[in-house]
Amino acid sequence: MTAIDDAVITLSVNGQPAEIRGDHPHLLAALRDELGVTSPKDGCAPSGQCGCCTILLDGKAVVACQVSLERASGKEVVTLEGVDPDERARYAQAFGACGALQCGFCTPGIIVRAKALIDRKGDGLTRDDAARHLGANLCRCTGYVKILDAVESLAHGTPVAIAAQGGIGTSGARYEAEALSLGDRDFIDDMDRPGLLHAAVALTEHARAEILGIDTGAALAAPGVVAAFTAADIPGELRVGIIHTDWPVMIPVGGRTSYLGDVLAVVVAESRQAARRGAELVTARYEVLEPLTDAVAAIDDPAIAVWGTDSNVLSVSSYARGGDAGAALAASAHQVHEVFQTQRIEHAFLEPESTLALPHPDGTLHVYSGGQGVWDDRNQIASVLDLPIDRVTVELVSNGGAFGGKEDMSNQAHTALAAFLLRQPVKCTLTREQSLLMHPKRHPIRLEYRAGCDADGHLTVVEARMIGDSGSYASVGMKVLERAAGHAGGPYRIPVMDVEAIAVRTNNPACGAFRGFGANQAQFAMEGVIDRLAELVGISGLEMRRRNVIRPGDVWGPGQVMDDGCGGAVRCLEAAAPAYEAARAAGHAVGIGLGLKNSGLGNGFLEIAKAVVRFRSDGRIEVRHCWTEMGQGIHSVARQVAVTELGVDPERIDVLVDTTRELGAGQTTGSRGTVMGAGSVAEACKAALADGCRLEVDYQGEYRIDWTDKISDGLEHPVIHSAFGYAAQLVIVDRDTGDIVKVVAVHDVGKAVNPLLCEGQIDGAVHMGLGYALTEDFPADELGRPTNMTLKSLGILRPKDMPEVEVVLVEHPQPRSPYGIKGVGEIGLVPTAGAVAAALHDLDGQWRARLPMRRDP
Ligand code: FES
Ligand code: FES
Repeated sequence: MTAIDDAVITLSVNGQPAEIRGDHPHLLAALRDELGVTSPKDGCAPSGQCGCCTILLDGKAVVACQVSLERASGKEVVTLEGVDPDERARYAQAFGACGALQCGFCTPGIIVRAKALIDRKGDGLTRDDAARHLGANLCRCTGYVKILDAVESLAHGTPVAIAAQGGIGTSGARYEAEALSLGDRDFIDDMDRPGLLHAAVALTEHARAEILGIDTGAALAAPGVVAAFTAADIPGELRVGIIHTDWPVMIPVGGRTSYLGDVLAVVVAESRQAARRGAELVTARYEVLEPLTDAVAAIDDPAIAVWGTDSNVLSVSSYARGGDAGAALAASAHQVHEVFQTQRIEHAFLEPESTLALPHPDGTLHVYSGGQGVWDDRNQIASVLDLPIDRVTVELVSNGGAFGGKEDMSNQAHTALAAFLLRQPVKCTLTREQSLLMHPKRHPIRLEYRAGCDADGHLTVVEARMIGDSGSYASVGMKVLERAAGHAGGPYRIPVMDVEAIAVRTNNPACGAFRGFGANQAQFAMEGVIDRLAELVGISGLEMRRRNVIRPGDVWGPGQVMDDGCGGAVRCLEAAAPAYEAARAAGHAVGIGLGLKNSGLGNGFLEIAKAVVRFRSDGRIEVRHCWTEMGQGIHSVARQVAVTELGVDPERIDVLVDTTRELGAGQTTGSRGTVMGAGSVAEACKAALADGCRLEVDYQGEYRIDWTDKISDGLEHPVIHSAFGYAAQLVIVDRDTGDIVKVVAVHDVGKAVNPLLCEGQIDGAVHMGLGYALTEDFPADELGRPTNMTLKSLGILRPKDMPEVEVVLVEHPQPRSPYGIKGVGEIGLVPTAGAVAAALHDLDGQWRARLPMRRDP
């Protein structure tokens, strides 16, 4: 303990004198954990790389997690809580009106930095200046486009009028926009409770090792530690999992680790710091085994990568139709053979996983989760604790981004276990490093394609063989590879297809759901094939796509006959065509990519979503639905549907997600929330209207998709998916600098429920797609250990690296879908990497088959 640990530090916080203990690791911890000042968020402390904790220190914008207590002593600290109310309102209004926030986790930090800039530069602040300075602040949701719009409008005193809150088709600010902008809406880590204890997990040191012993003695002896639990303390099931229950909550003595995110113990203490220090003192005796890290080799390796399984092949998805692929290739005028390789990447949502569990005196447990499926969370927690499911309720706290990475449970079961056993409230928030190690990533996939076309460029055949490194636990890896197989041919009419996709278990980081869910990898390869064939035929990429784009009535992928909704594909292509021709005429290097992405689970799943509308006696109207709000705007969708159907004031509506009512609809995944959420809320509203909207009555509505087929059913023309979104994206590169100067993103969303938020989804997806194409990577070494273990090293594009993005919305309605909605959550980055590869080829004549294409932005 140093002198400063014992000291009391005095400083000014938001205009008031304050005293803080000297034992905090940095100013952010003191502000949040001791003073309860929570608008500065903790996305990566103490590394100082996300900017979420930006504050003003003596008037200068700094990240609080990099400010030592000595440095803070005697200084004046201002956070958004201490900013003048009129100024707060002005910033919140601008950010809401411009659609400059999605999950909102980054927003308070960005507003503080923007305020410091505007205070200093006034209307002299240029957009480029702002982009450069905001490089210190990551935003994973917005792509920065609308953030810079808001900052510009604030700097120049030209407020953007906030659109009136309305029904379907209106562009009002998102639900809770003001509170989120200002950091007033609690994320889980912001929540406090009387008697709250803190938990921290202790992870394995080896990706594949027998566990011979676990010693928690030193942890238990550490100051402030009240308990340490291991697998031996779990009363119920050891393993959880969304589809396969293969994922141990903790590895017991006698068990074996399977990746570096495996948990050995959970340490509970009186403070966050004490819990984390205690977790570092947990030791284990290992018999270290050689990890399996090569997915191709693991297929035939007799050694088993993952404890408790009997094969390294997680799944094989395949289909063939239209005849013999080899013969079709031989008969084709032009052929292409290429092996593509995509990389593993990290979601990098800015809010690390956090859970709060509260035991009630009657033995029930209430859990606040930021997961993507509160019903799965409830069921799995109950099974781990060996409780009936009605003894556990889970409440969603809208999270700080997820993108698929919060589908699997992370620390929910550990936190619930600690609270259940100790009979005290317990909160656990992962460090950034633990978050990187624990949750599943985007699959790296090796894609070998053979394809052919006739002399006019009409596709004749595609044969694809894919091997995806699914890492350790199943998660939804088999579904990702199944989806990659289904989307292997992109949005094209292909007479002969022969596709196989294998998901392989290794000891690398687990892989699972990530925005695009296999469609991105497959369509990077397919777009590359299309461009290579176009060159052989001697036509442009645009013309090649025109000749092959899928149209209503065509047979697609595994054999689905496409409905009228697929008319959106050609509409996107034609809407992008003028910009393509103009950019070529101007001498730019240009690439175009076309993509489709299913909405919903499909594949024969019976998908049922329920919602409840309730008129409360206090005048409020509750809309209860099943879906996780993670920045995509599902709460806003629910509210807008209710406004359209009920004709009520949107300000009266409260949107809630919890498991106190049985509305389960599975995970918020697969671009299905908007379609199914809108359908079920609309039905609930209709039920209310039919009954006179009586007070304190639950009016339930249901939306179901029960008309899809499994590929394995052997049907000639299965309906694999109920709906698809379509997009054409154009990437324009300056031939002198080699820089991408503009992306035109044309998207058919069926119906834009909120055009402002819809555009924001696409902006953010393009940002993510450019990073995927160019710079992002999350590799692991031969021991299964990730080598990019900081936010900075992930290769996420900063605002100054973002080109201009022009979003064009096409509304080609989806038959049988509420309001014609198709969903936009994932399609936004499906065509991007292919379009970038085509543009770079146009620039220098080099074909690229590996992602990322440039490591340095
Ligand atoms: S939490 Fe301080 S910069 Fe990320
Ligand atoms: S809104 Fe910026 S990280 Fe979500």
